[in-house]
Amino acid sequence: MQEENMKILITGAGGFAAARIIAAWKDRHEITGTGRAQLNFTNKEECLRVIGQVRPQIVIHCGAVSDVGACDKDPGHSYLVNVTGAENIALASRETGARMIFFSSDQVYFGNDVQEPHREDELLTPCRIYGKQKQEAEQRCLTAQPDTVALRMSWMFDNKKLSPREHDTLITSVRQAVSEKRRITYPIHDYRSITYVGEMIRHLETALTLPPGIYNFGSPNDLSTYHIVREFLSFQGTDETLLVPNKEAFAASPRNLRMDQEKLLRHGICFSDTLQTLKNCLQQDNMKP
Ligand SMILES: NC(=O)c1ccc[n+]([C@@H]2O[C@H](COP(=O)([O-])OP(=O)(O)OC[C@H]3O[C@@H](n4cnc5c(N)ncnc54)[C@H](OP(=O)(O)O)[C@@H]3O)[C@@H](O)[C@H]2O)c1
Repeated sequence: MQEENMKILITGAGGFAAARIIAAWKDRHEITGTGRAQLNFTNKEECLRVIGQVRPQIVIHCGAVSDVGACDKDPGHSYLVNVTGAENIALASRETGARMIFFSSDQVYFGNDVQEPHREDELLTPCRIYGKQKQEAEQRCLTAQPDTVALRMSWMFDNKKLSPREHDTLITSVRQAVSEKRRITYPIHDYRSITYVGEMIRHLETALTLPPGIYNFGSPNDLSTYHIVREFLSFQGTDETLLVPNKEAFAASPRNLRMDQEKLLRHGICFSDTLQTLKNCLQQDNMKP
């Protein structure tokens, strides 16, 4: 049973996920959203001061350098934001008695040989900076604030952008390309737990009361990214010839970021699979199907 009217602080308030969580929950919970101007979480004292003033029951830490390429380009900066910043939030949460919900990533799984859906307790050997930093941040947060729930988010989408500044998602990118009659290509050897952000937010409310620990948090999916996009175009009745399979990417070793659902299911959280979540998203907007 979910408590109503909780006092929640959400970092990265102007970002893709946080902006939607705030919009969805603003009438149900007492929410303080902090952008960079209100709380630069790379500053430890600022975290203590702001979280100490607000005194939330829960801090949801969405702020990050979320662009994998940006982390490769400037790993020092992304370490400060993604690892040190997350730990600062965890320390301040512990100090002020708030539980922490940390947004981690399925990219922690990119780099090992597992071809089945990944389990939370398997050995991780992330091959990109972003994945390495998220893995370290999970551990640092759980050490600094043992009452942390770290959620490994998958690649999320929505059917529209809330502002032009916001980063694209799979569906907004495809829709943009289709509107410009531009050719698009997606890999056939890429398997990911692609998830509608609205469904993630619905389950997030239940996740607020999960026992501390690490959880996969995205839709099951056995279709390649190429096949998901093809299904999306077919749902919309759009010209599928614009879509070209990319047969080269990950051909030597398929990329598998699919996430096992068993732990979440044990705690009563059941994500729809990617195709169903895609249909749910399109229905929200009265788009096809
Ligand atoms: N979106 C996905 O599909 C996805 C998938 C897996 C995991 N995740 C994780 O989920 C979380 C949310 O993702 P998202 O897509 O919502 O990210 P996003 O749109 O990039 O938002 C991140 C926010 O963090 C803010 N930020 C960065 N550094 C900051 C600092 N030092 N102090 C305060 N704010 C700072 C950014 O502000 P500025 O704009 O001012 O820089 C931005 O508003 C992230 O941890 C991400 O790694 C996301």
